[in-house]
Amino acid sequence: MRHLTPSDRLIHQFDTVLRTLVPHAAQPSRPSPSMGVDDEPLDERERERAIGLMRINHTGEVCAQALYQGQGLTAKLPDTREQMEQAAQEEIDHLAWCDERLEELGGRTSLLNPVFYAASFGLGAVAGAVGDRVSLGFVAATEEQVGKHLDEHLETLPAGDRRSRAVLAQMREDEAHHERWALEAGGARFPAPVKLGMRLMSKVMTKSVYKL
Ligand SMILES: [Fe+2]
Ligand SMILES: [Fe+2]
Repeated sequence: MRHLTPSDRLIHQFDTVLRTLVPHAAQPSRPSPSMGVDDEPLDERERERAIGLMRINHTGEVCAQALYQGQGLTAKLPDTREQMEQAAQEEIDHLAWCDERLEELGGRTSLLNPVFYAASFGLGAVAGAVGDRVSLGFVAATEEQVGKHLDEHLETLPAGDRRSRAVLAQMREDEAHHERWALEAGGARFPAPVKLGMRLMSKVMTKSVYKL
């Protein structure tokens, strides 16, 4: 493997930041699960609802990217780095699919994404620096949280919005897989108060991003 200089790394980081934050810049490795799925016509209220929910999911994926990148900077993870990168690639797929679906619905991504990106990057870097057990535990706890959101959104999306639902269903499957490997790789199970803190943070995110 080629040796990367600090400036190589910096450029790579910056490139990833741009790919995450600039709309339509993320390149998925798998086609969107909505391919070949037909919607029923949505009325205006349903469309607005679907946009709000898909915007939340998109921001969640921005956070996931930032989390993996922050950890990548500080975590050692000698045995799981490959899996971590595989998971990060799947998160890029999710990001691109949500972005694509938002555009189809006539919506846009959240203006708050840079803020959530920065916060998640910081948290990921801190978790990675504390140690691999905490770092992997953080992945598992985050994925658990995301899974709950996805379940909720699968219920509350307008009934006719089959294309968004197809995207979320595949994401749900991938996130469950990420959670499993993080725990199997030795991730700590976070205590209830920490999980509660994460839930509160995600409440702030979902409430603000639904509109903004
Ligand atoms: Fe994801
Ligand atoms: Fe994930």
